[in-house]
Amino acid sequence: MIYNKLTAEEAADFIKNDDLIGFSGFTAAGCPKVITMALAVKAENEHAKGNPFKVGIYTGASTGDSIDGVLSRAHAIKFRTPYQSNKDMRTELNNHEAHYFDLHLSELPQYLRYGFLAKPKFAILEACDITDDGKIYLTSAVGIAPTVARIADYIFIELNKYHPKALTGMHDIYEPADPPVRREIPICSPDDRIGVPYIQVDPKKIIGVVETNLPNEVGGFTPSDEVTNKIGENVASFLSAEMKAGRIPLSFLPVQSGVGNIANAVLGAMGANKDIPPFSIYTEVIQDSVISLMKEGNVTFASGCSLTLSTPALEEVYKNLDFFKDRMVLRPQEISNSPEIARRLGLISINTALEADIFGNINSTHVVGTKMMNGIGGSGDFCRNAYLSIFTTPSVAKGGKISAIVPMVAHVDHSEHSVKILVTEHGVADLRGLSPIQRAEVIIENCVDPLYKGLLRKYLTLGQKGHTPQNMMTALSFHQAFNETGDMRNVNWE
Ligand code: COA
Repeated sequence: MIYNKLTAEEAADFIKNDDLIGFSGFTAAGCPKVITMALAVKAENEHAKGNPFKVGIYTGASTGDSIDGVLSRAHAIKFRTPYQSNKDMRTELNNHEAHYFDLHLSELPQYLRYGFLAKPKFAILEACDITDDGKIYLTSAVGIAPTVARIADYIFIELNKYHPKALTGMHDIYEPADPPVRREIPICSPDDRIGVPYIQVDPKKIIGVVETNLPNEVGGFTPSDEVTNKIGENVASFLSAEMKAGRIPLSFLPVQSGVGNIANAVLGAMGANKDIPPFSIYTEVIQDSVISLMKEGNVTFASGCSLTLSTPALEEVYKNLDFFKDRMVLRPQEISNSPEIARRLGLISINTALEADIFGNINSTHVVGTKMMNGIGGSGDFCRNAYLSIFTTPSVAKGGKISAIVPMVAHVDHSEHSVKILVTEHGVADLRGLSPIQRAEVIIENCVDPLYKGLLRKYLTLGQKGHTPQNMMTALSFHQAFNETGDMRNVNWE
């Protein structure tokens, strides 16, 4: 190998206060792990001496604790984009210690290329292999790695032996040209390959390689419960009825499924539903349930941006790469989440809402309207452009003190114009072709918890005249009641 071997501390020493860094990875999969740990120590040492030390970071999406966790606890982040899900990072940005810019995941690489965001000085990439002529083979995710590798001035590689070199070939690296010369992205089926399996860089940009042997930091999933199972069954029965009604082809359509336990339960229920034929996945995050469904023959192919798998599931994939490499591809997020491809393939998109309103608007990001939870992630890339965009949510949170369905969402991520289906454990609201008042009736009837049905029906009687019968004085009264008393049921409309 022609590259300098460095320790994590030596690599971190190149990074100065105010520098911008771009990372490989998407969720905790494929992220670098050691240079940022050394950087956090450096930041703490500088702070102890009274010196400022903060960096700006561009990631694919959320990361492992070794990036967001350690750097937040060291108060070493001045700017961050996009999606995050680390509790210490959440505290930093809700306290305005770090500025957070939340954007659609597909857009970040072009934001960087267009110069809408300043280009990173450093790219730090986790690789399973690297060649002397500058070919970088990534590990279990892609994210924004191709773009930051190309535009950064300098590159560090964390060469992680935990990920087998045999992983090479799993990735399909492709960066579109920019307007006015952009062409179509030629993917017409989830298993189409359009690029090369490596990132090509000028080897002179690689300052050095830090060798590691560390697993990903993906947390395990909470086992599904009665509510998530019921949501999964409701989605699966709805989709099978759509097929029977001729609105989904008998060969089915590719599925995009969001992050977390509900997404896992939905995919599990779709696999268990005898009416749904084996289907393909075109998504950003490949989770554990996809691996089980693939082994059982219910999922035929999965295109994603990351293998966000628990350690046992990832090790199973690595032990059976001959089987899985023919059935999976990992792409950059501007391809896995491309609106153009979502629309062309006709994705069935299933994502989780934090709250919905009775008119079909969705809040995916802001707890009670102000506190950032995680971010919009890829939900907007898919929702707006899918063949069928479905949002799922448990009907209540915090033991019933919060209704996930409110008169007016306190923050809008997905509007009534994009959201087609809403599903809770109580049922399905099919909003296609309905006027606002019709949507409110079907959502209250089919999706709202009995604890809140009466209140929401009463709310509709308070509505002012007009197409969408909101009452501007009381539209956010559920949130106000929660803030003042800790329970949305204590609304006061006297
Ligand atoms: N108001 C306030 N808090 C709420 C709430 C609401 N309407 N609904 C849920 N919560 C709270 C829960 O009580 C829980 O709190 P806790 O952490 O203190 O227990 C927390 O929010 C998370 O709820 P949970 O049901 O465990 O959420 P989840 O893990 O299923 O995640 C989202 C739900 C919406 C946060 C998550 O799906 C997300 O970040 N989505 C946006 C991005 C996205 O859709 N990505 C996929 C695109 S491919």
